Amino acid sequence: MMAPIHIDEAAGSDISGDGTTEQPYQTLGVALFSHSSTESFLIRKDPTGTYEEPTQSSLKKAKKTADGLEKKKKKAEELAEREAKEKGEEKERREKLLEDSKKIVLEEDASLIKAKKAKISQLTELRSQRVRVFGWVHRLRQQKDIIFLVVRDGTGYLQTVLSGRVAQTYQALTLTLESSVEVVGTLQAVPEGKTAPGGHELIVDYWQVVGAAPGAEDAFTNRLNEKSDPSIQADLRHLVLRGETASSVLRLRAFLLTAFRDALTSHSLIEVTPPCLVQTQVEGGATLFKFDYYGQPAFLTQSSQLYLETCLPSLGDVFCVQESFRAENSHTRRHLSEYTHLEAELAFITFSDLMDHIEDIICKTVDLLLANPISAALVKQLNPSFEPPARPFLRISYVDAIKWLNEHGIKRPEEDAEGNAVKDESGQTKMVEHAVGDDIAEAAERQMTDIIGTPVFLYGFPAELKAFYMKKMPGKDGEKTVFTESCDLLMPNVGEIVGGSMRIADMEELIAAYKREGIDPEPYYWFTDQRKYGTCEHGGYGLGVERFLAWLANRFTVRECSLYPRWPGRATP
Ligand code: 4AD
Repeated sequence: MMAPIHIDEAAGSDISGDGTTEQPYQTLGVALFSHSSTESFLIRKDPTGTYEEPTQSSLKKAKKTADGLEKKKKKAEELAEREAKEKGEEKERREKLLEDSKKIVLEEDASLIKAKKAKISQLTELRSQRVRVFGWVHRLRQQKDIIFLVVRDGTGYLQTVLSGRVAQTYQALTLTLESSVEVVGTLQAVPEGKTAPGGHELIVDYWQVVGAAPGAEDAFTNRLNEKSDPSIQADLRHLVLRGETASSVLRLRAFLLTAFRDALTSHSLIEVTPPCLVQTQVEGGATLFKFDYYGQPAFLTQSSQLYLETCLPSLGDVFCVQESFRAENSHTRRHLSEYTHLEAELAFITFSDLMDHIEDIICKTVDLLLANPISAALVKQLNPSFEPPARPFLRISYVDAIKWLNEHGIKRPEEDAEGNAVKDESGQTKMVEHAVGDDIAEAAERQMTDIIGTPVFLYGFPAELKAFYMKKMPGKDGEKTVFTESCDLLMPNVGEIVGGSMRIADMEELIAAYKREGIDPEPYYWFTDQRKYGTCEHGGYGLGVERFLAWLANRFTVRECSLYPRWPGRATP
C-alpha cells in the first residue's frame, strides 16, 4: 500500500510540500491536484494536532479546487504550445523573408537625374531634387512594409522613407541603429500637418549600408542608454557624443569660440598661440602638473597670461584660446584638470577699462550667437529661458561683498591653523561669519550669485589671496593699499567664469612680489624684461570656456561642455 499524503494546514507548504510527514502540503486542494484521488490523504490543523482522514465535505470542496487548478494548467499548456508554434512559424517566415531578401539586389538607376551629394544642413535649397546623403542611422522604425530612418550627419537630421523594393533587401531587414549609410532619393516637403527635421523627407530610391553596427547583445542601445551609470557614460563618452544633447552642446561650443574670436577681433585684438610646455608658474605651485622635460623640470601651463604680456610691445592687444592645466583635487561641477582658457591682454588701459572690455566682449559674443539662426536655435534648444544679460554688470568691491555675505547670513566653515574645518560637539562643521581677508569660497560665491541672479563683478581682492603679478590698488593718498586691481566675474548657476587683473608695471615692485611669494626670479627673466624695456600699464583676464558654456547652455557641470573632459583620475577616452 502506498504511503498516505499528508496535509498540515498551518505548517505545510503548497509550494515546497511533497506529502511526506517531513514536507506536508498546506491545502487538501493542492494535494488532490498533485496526486491521484485514489491515494489516501491525512490532514491536521497544525503540528500540535494528529493526522486524520479528511471529512467527505472537505474532500468535495478540495476536489473543486483541484479541478480548477487542473483546468488552469491545461489552458497554460495550450497557450504555450500555440505560442511556440507561432514563434516557430514567425521564425520560419522571417528566415524565408531574409533568404528571399538576399535575392533583391539594389542598383542605382543610371537613367535618373544624377543625385547631388550634400550635407543635411544644405538640403533646404535642394527640395524636390535628387540628393545623396551620407550619415548614421539615428532612429529606425518599421511600419508594415515601410522603413522610416532618421539619418544624422553631424550637420543635422534627415527623415528618410524606404518602401517597396528598397525596404525589402537583406540590408534593410537587418539594419541597426548607428550603422553608417548612403541614402539617395528625391527630397520632398512633408505633407501639411506632419513634421520632420527641416520640414522635408527623403524618398529613397537607392541606398546601401556603408558600415553596419552590431545588433543583439552588442547593439548600441545595450552598451549605452539614458539609465547608464555615470562612470559608464564617462568611459563611453565617444558614444555619448552621438546623442542629440551632447552633440548640440559641442556644436554650440564651436559657434561660441567663433563668436568670441569675432568679438575680440572687432576690438582689435589679435590671436596668438602660446606654448603649453612651460617652466614658470602663474597661479601658484599647488596646482602645477610637473614633468621631466629632457632632464629638466617643466610644467603644463596654468595660464598663458605671462606670454600674452610679452606680446603687447610686439603685436598690441592679444588673445589666445589655449588649454590650461590645473592639478587640483577638485571634484566639483565647475573644475576640470584641463580646460580651454580664453585669455586676453590689453596695453595702456585702466582697471575700469578692463572691466568695461570684459563686459563688452561677453555681451557682444552673446549678441553674435543670438544673431546667428543656427547658434540661436541651439541656445533655445539647450536653455529655453536664456535671456542676454542686462548691462551694465553689477560691480561689488571685495569689502562690500564680505559685508553682503554677512548681511545675508552666508557663513564660511571655520578653519584651524592647518586649514582643516573645525567641528562642533555634534561633529558638524562649525560655520562663522566672513571677515575681510577671507577667501570667498565656492559655496558662498554660488549662493551669492544665485541670490543676485545677474552677472556680477567682484573686484579689489586682498593681495595675499591673489597671484604675485597683480597690481595693488592705490588708496586716496596715492599710497598702495593691501587690495589689488583684480576682478572675478560671477554668473548665476556657475559662479566665477572670468578672473582678471591689472598687472604690476613697475620692475622693482615686481621683483619685490617674486620675493614675497618665494619665487626664484631667474626663470622669469623674459617676463621681468617687459618692465625693463618700455613698461606700460596693462591688464588682462582669463575666461573658462567650459564654465561660460555651462552658463549659456544651462548645463549642470562643465564636464558636459568639454569634448573629452579630464578630472582627477580621468584621462580616458
Ligand atoms: O582665475 P584664474 O586662475 O586666472 C588666471 O589663470 C589668470 N592668469 C588669467 C589671466 O588673467 N589671463 O582662471 C581664469 C578662469 C577662471 O575664472 C575660470 O573660469 C577658469 O579660468 N578656470 C577653470 N575652469 C575649469 N576648471 C578649472 N580647474 C579652472 N580653473 C580656472
